[in-house]
Amino acid sequence: MIAPSILAADFSRLGELVREVTKAGADRIHIDVMDGHFVPNLSMGAVVVKGLRPVTTSPLEVHLMVEDPGRFLDGFVKDGADAIIVHLEVLPDPRPMIEHIKKALGKKVGLAFNPDMPVERIEPYLRDIDLALCMTVFPGFGGQAFIPESLVRLKKLRALVNEHNPACEIEVDGGIDAKTIGAASTAGANVFVAGTSVFGAPAGPAAAVKSLMKLCAP
Ligand code: DX5
Ligand code: ZN
Repeated sequence: MIAPSILAADFSRLGELVREVTKAGADRIHIDVMDGHFVPNLSMGAVVVKGLRPVTTSPLEVHLMVEDPGRFLDGFVKDGADAIIVHLEVLPDPRPMIEHIKKALGKKVGLAFNPDMPVERIEPYLRDIDLALCMTVFPGFGGQAFIPESLVRLKKLRALVNEHNPACEIEVDGGIDAKTIGAASTAGANVFVAGTSVFGAPAGPAAAVKSLMKLCAP
């Protein structure tokens, strides 16, 4: 499943581009929210979710790369988010937030962790989440290179997910393109965020989504 990241899109044509990747079969739209604190970049807020909601039937998954995600959950859901992904790095105990997103807000919840966080740290929560996001770059910017050590981490994560909650999706994010998606899929990922390789593709985003879908077909 391909999740185009709009961070790499031409924002002067955002609605049109999201329609295009939806039509091409994008499984969901990945919305990268950055606060300039948790990551050294500032990107977008709930207003972008609100703007895109009427444009696509694909689920909108919000990747909160922010220090205090609790402040923003209700706003993103009100504006149309279907799934919220928060970072384990900023949550000593993610359980209350997982509960809130699932029960109070009724939305899918994902836990993300950076390349320097041991995979084992997510094990206690796998049973409670819908998606584990194994970052394959250090978050903050699109267009970075896939970190090759991610493949060993993905294999570990796949084993843990199979043991604790096989329904939990394994998503990768960062540097996913025609050269890296196959290995990530073989290592155990089943959802692939792609920003530059979709919205920067010379053949255009629709063709890029279709070719990435072929490369990660089970
Ligand atoms: C990075 C973001 C990623 C990024 C992916 O901080 O979380 O979603 O936009 O972009 P590419 O696919 O260009 O690495
Ligand atoms: Zn992301």
